[in-house]
Amino acid sequence: MTDDSRFILDPATADLHGDNERLREAGPLVPVTAEGVRAWAATDYATLMTVLTHPDMSRELHHWADRHTLPPGTAIDRIVTDTSMLNAEGERHRRLRMPLTAAFSQRRLNGLRPRIEELTARLIDRLAELPADAPVDLRLEFAYPLPREVISELIGIPAAHQDDLHRLSDAIAQVGGLEDSPALRRELRELLDEIIEERRGTPGEDLITDLFELHEKDGGRLSEDELFATIELLFIAGHVTTVNLITNAIRVLLSEPDQLELLRSGRCPYSAAVEETLRWDSPIAYFPMRYAVRDVEIDGVRLRGGEPVLACFASAGRDPGQYEQADVFDITRPQVTHLAFGHGPHFCLGAPLARLEGEIALRALFGAFPAMKPVALPDELPPLDTLLGNSTRTMPVIL
Ligand code: HEM
Repeated sequence: MTDDSRFILDPATADLHGDNERLREAGPLVPVTAEGVRAWAATDYATLMTVLTHPDMSRELHHWADRHTLPPGTAIDRIVTDTSMLNAEGERHRRLRMPLTAAFSQRRLNGLRPRIEELTARLIDRLAELPADAPVDLRLEFAYPLPREVISELIGIPAAHQDDLHRLSDAIAQVGGLEDSPALRRELRELLDEIIEERRGTPGEDLITDLFELHEKDGGRLSEDELFATIELLFIAGHVTTVNLITNAIRVLLSEPDQLELLRSGRCPYSAAVEETLRWDSPIAYFPMRYAVRDVEIDGVRLRGGEPVLACFASAGRDPGQYEQADVFDITRPQVTHLAFGHGPHFCLGAPLARLEGEIALRALFGAFPAMKPVALPDELPPLDTLLGNSTRTMPVIL
């Protein structure tokens, strides 16, 4: 990658899908600069799939860091330097992921449905108490608290710490994502440290307890650092992504009354709206990174060992080579498949949970407020200022 005529990815872009169209036109693997890091961008569906499953592409940072200096303080730095499963491969990846697969299985999640419905109903009741003619930000008041409350219960955040966590989460919501704020991240770590410490003595039916047993009893299968990284990963990955999904779905459905009517009348299931939103407006824009383990050729492009490849999830969802009328939001597409949850060994662990939350949230919201109207056009809403997340900072409506 010596050519300097490269695309610079702008976290504050107001036109993500337009930028992505230009990237795809430039090729399936395009040289870009993302937060000061020179990388290849995997822009279309087939190439992204190849990169996510290629045996010579790895999530382990050292393939790149052995040869480069990581710009400190960037989102890439903050996300890839942790020791969670997301940055592990092979045996270490299996060791970190396996203990969690049962907790996120479809069967376990079906058992969670009534509880998620109850939490949703409580939020809807709170919305219904607000003045009906004043704007309400549904990102902050609905899309944000629901996944936060669900994931906090699953992880096992004790009641005494819920207020602190809520305050912290709300601050994170204001900046649009944890990756934007090192100070908040530090505070979250301190809070989780405190919680883990407390749970040593009081086991419960939650993930902290399960993971702690692995750390303490099962011959130290999980180091202290891995324990923390896993819990932090679950909190972050299980939260803001789902906030973006719910926000994006509300935004597009309010601007497409015919599609919304298909849902409200029961002619189309809410799960179809969730899948189409994931494809059409992926909650993750760009994800750092895969690294070439050795020199490798992908789609006719030669990558040198150590070179990073950025996964362009939102771009793959709009790939005209993969979807007919890719830019059209259409919940009646038959069996839409997408890469919004990734593919291969790192396929999103929480995908069934995110789908369930999305479906329950949208059905409850649109069922409760039949006259709901957006306050602004989708293009007028400020986008998140991050390369990772794809959503708007607010979702104001009149209920
Ligand atoms: C991994 C997307 C919700 C937990 C991933 C990956 C994607 C993704 C694209 C793969 C990253 C890669 O291949 O490098 C999403 C989206 C969500 C969502 C779009 C919501 C709409 C959740 C939830 C949880 C979760 C609710 C958990 C409670 C994880 C974990 C991984 C992961 C633990 C790492 C898996 C591994 O490395 O083996 N997610 N996610 N995610 N996600 Fe999600």
